[in-house]
Amino acid sequence: MLGVAANGMMAPEAYRSEAFYRAELDWVFPSSWVFVGHEQWVRNPGDFLADTIGVEPVLVVRNPDGVLRAFSNVCPHRASLIAEGRGNCGRRLVCGYHGWTFGLDGQLLAVPRQRGFATPVDVSEYGLHELRLDVWEGLIFVNVTGDAPALIDYLEGVPELLAGHDIATMGLGAFLDDPIAANWKLVMDNAICDYHLGMVHGESIADLVELEGLGEQAGGTTAVASVPWKASALPPQPRPGLSGPAVEGSLGCFVFPNLHVIGFPTGGATVMWWTPTGPATTRARVLSLSHDADADVRAGTELLSRVQREDFEVCERMQIGVQSRGYTPGPLHASELRITVFQRRLLDIVGPVLAAADSEASVELAGAAR
Ligand code: FES
Ligand SMILES: [Fe+2]
Repeated sequence: MLGVAANGMMAPEAYRSEAFYRAELDWVFPSSWVFVGHEQWVRNPGDFLADTIGVEPVLVVRNPDGVLRAFSNVCPHRASLIAEGRGNCGRRLVCGYHGWTFGLDGQLLAVPRQRGFATPVDVSEYGLHELRLDVWEGLIFVNVTGDAPALIDYLEGVPELLAGHDIATMGLGAFLDDPIAANWKLVMDNAICDYHLGMVHGESIADLVELEGLGEQAGGTTAVASVPWKASALPPQPRPGLSGPAVEGSLGCFVFPNLHVIGFPTGGATVMWWTPTGPATTRARVLSLSHDADADVRAGTELLSRVQREDFEVCERMQIGVQSRGYTPGPLHASELRITVFQRRLLDIVGPVLAAADSEASVELAGAAR
């Protein structure tokens, strides 16, 4: 299959190819449940957040009745974006190009200078295109194609595993948003690799954990790592609600394609997600959550930035390395197990798309040669 190395891992060209990158934007992200932000960012009626899933501009808005809805963030008149970033739009969304105005339910309400159209614009035909949205523990997900399994099924065992952390009632802490000069898949591979903890994070977090006690579990759309902490790093009493491995250490839950939610035994969580911005560039976002947000944010932001920097550096070094003609992927360590879930699912989606494009190109070439 295209993009697969001899040992079944992602081939180096997958980390640098423009065609592979386009196929990911067009097929991987739209067909998945993709995390777009926290409910507390859109708490009040009229609050919105805009983002991009693959190439699809997406707008999430809180309706006057309190319900969150997602739309394609594209004006049906001439495709201008309706909103950008985060904010509050009041009771209406107004396109900044010619002023078409939409209700928060996506319905077109008003069209300036209607008489200039040969036939009056039928407002019922030009509403915003609605997208599938669901929320788990305050985390908002959107599925652009609308045909992914129900979110609760897509998340497999993760909701049960993190139930005791009660992430939905945590307050928001630090939020980091940084560019990385590396393909997003290298960043993902690194995020769900536990083999590097001792080496790369030796000065920051490696001392907190029992590196030999790691446990990894692979699912279809998710993969989990239990990372036991040293007794000295654990709270003196288990936090109420936590049990089993959640008491003993952190639980790193990868959700395909680009989300990592980590629950900590101290009662906090970190939500990390990575968005491709080019074949060799990625946007890295991290949101800290905690039941004791003030204290944890003060203590945790500096450490979080430090760990991020340690990871960014290694990802950017790998991006240079995957350009090499001599490199083929080496064997997987048991602490890299979660990478297989990510890579296999991604290759299952992208492989057939690229193979079809390749055979179409061959047919065209053969036709041109005749
Ligand atoms: S593009 Fe939005 S009103 Fe024209
Ligand atoms: Fe790391």
